[in-house]
Amino acid sequence: MSEVTKPTVDIIAGARPNFMKIAPIIRAIEASQAKGGRLSYRLIHTGQHYDAKMSGDFFTQLGIPAPHFNLEVGSGTQAEQTATIMTRYEKLLLEKRSELCLVVGDVTSTMACAIAAQKLCVPVAHVEGGIRSGDWTMPEEINRMVTDSITNYFFTTSEVANANLRRSGVADDRIFFVGNTMIDTLLANMSRLQPPAFWNELGLVEKKYIVLTLHRPNNVDGENTLAAMLKAVGKGARNLPVIFPVHPRTAKTLKSIEGLSNNFHFVDPQPYLEFNYLVKNAMAVITDSGGITEETTVMGVPCMTLRESTERPETVTMGTNALLGTDPTALAPAMDELFAGKWKRGTIPPLWDGKAGERIVAILDKMLAR
Ligand code: UD1
Repeated sequence: MSEVTKPTVDIIAGARPNFMKIAPIIRAIEASQAKGGRLSYRLIHTGQHYDAKMSGDFFTQLGIPAPHFNLEVGSGTQAEQTATIMTRYEKLLLEKRSELCLVVGDVTSTMACAIAAQKLCVPVAHVEGGIRSGDWTMPEEINRMVTDSITNYFFTTSEVANANLRRSGVADDRIFFVGNTMIDTLLANMSRLQPPAFWNELGLVEKKYIVLTLHRPNNVDGENTLAAMLKAVGKGARNLPVIFPVHPRTAKTLKSIEGLSNNFHFVDPQPYLEFNYLVKNAMAVITDSGGITEETTVMGVPCMTLRESTERPETVTMGTNALLGTDPTALAPAMDELFAGKWKRGTIPPLWDGKAGERIVAILDKMLAR
């Protein structure tokens, strides 16, 4: 008698911001299986991020199971990473194909696996599809555009994303407005957030420090650019401590910068529960990340984004985020507003309610496991 095979979804994760997005999807698949659902999955880590602090810690804290496969791509140029991930994922699909390739977010692993899958006629689903910054100098925007151009099913986080997709000719029956899986993870872990070890050592006090994160190549690869930004942050923070978890890319440039004010505290990239504890209790966050602007919006924490554009405009129109641009002089007036207690309070965008993963899996169950 031949074995009845279960429909299998490949869940792709490669870099830090992917891990919190896949966790609730995996949890929802396992919950569906426990109720007799037939959908199964293979978790594929591309290895784009490989340090414990950029990857392993997130698996442990978020209870993500060990990947079924690790493609071990490691660091490299954009093209090197893309080519290696494509080659290795293609080999895996040729050995045993899956029914669907599910990618999340906008990192290089997202695009590379979508291309490899679609070329083998394995349909692609994109979680967080449809968002656009319009800034082609950022690799993530290229990743989004390429991925979405070959995606079959879009799981979207906002009405803006839905509108972007419709405008580019995607039919409504391929767009599923499900909410935000990154926010699922935040809400599920809110009561587990914990202070980092240095909280007491530095004598940190709630709402009396600033959190800073910078890792975009445009901001951190040039020594002068990064130095000017840091000087503006140090001054704008008055005497408050600035907690700066340093991304490995930023660390390379930071080594040669001198003369920073002594309210800076440089720390390693933080695990999920510690990082979000810091954010939740901060007076404000200054960042060039996209995902963090969503988390600050949900936690109601003032956020200043040092970028010229955002692919997440609802964090500005509805949330607590302000897009300041990359000219460091924009920080001073924003900090004045913050210290005057006049920062906007914001509201939480629709469907950012902790149930996006369940909605995605209910749709996949219907689509694949009938
Ligand atoms: C990637 C994503 C970005 C995301 C960011 C979060 C792309 C194009 N960019 O950028 O969207 O916001 O992750 O971190 O996919 N490195 C380590 N250890 C690691 C990983 C990287 O030391 O575990 C160092 C390497 O020297 C590497 C550099 O960091 O060259 C950059 O890593 P890479 O994955 O190329 O891009 P990120 O800047 O992290």
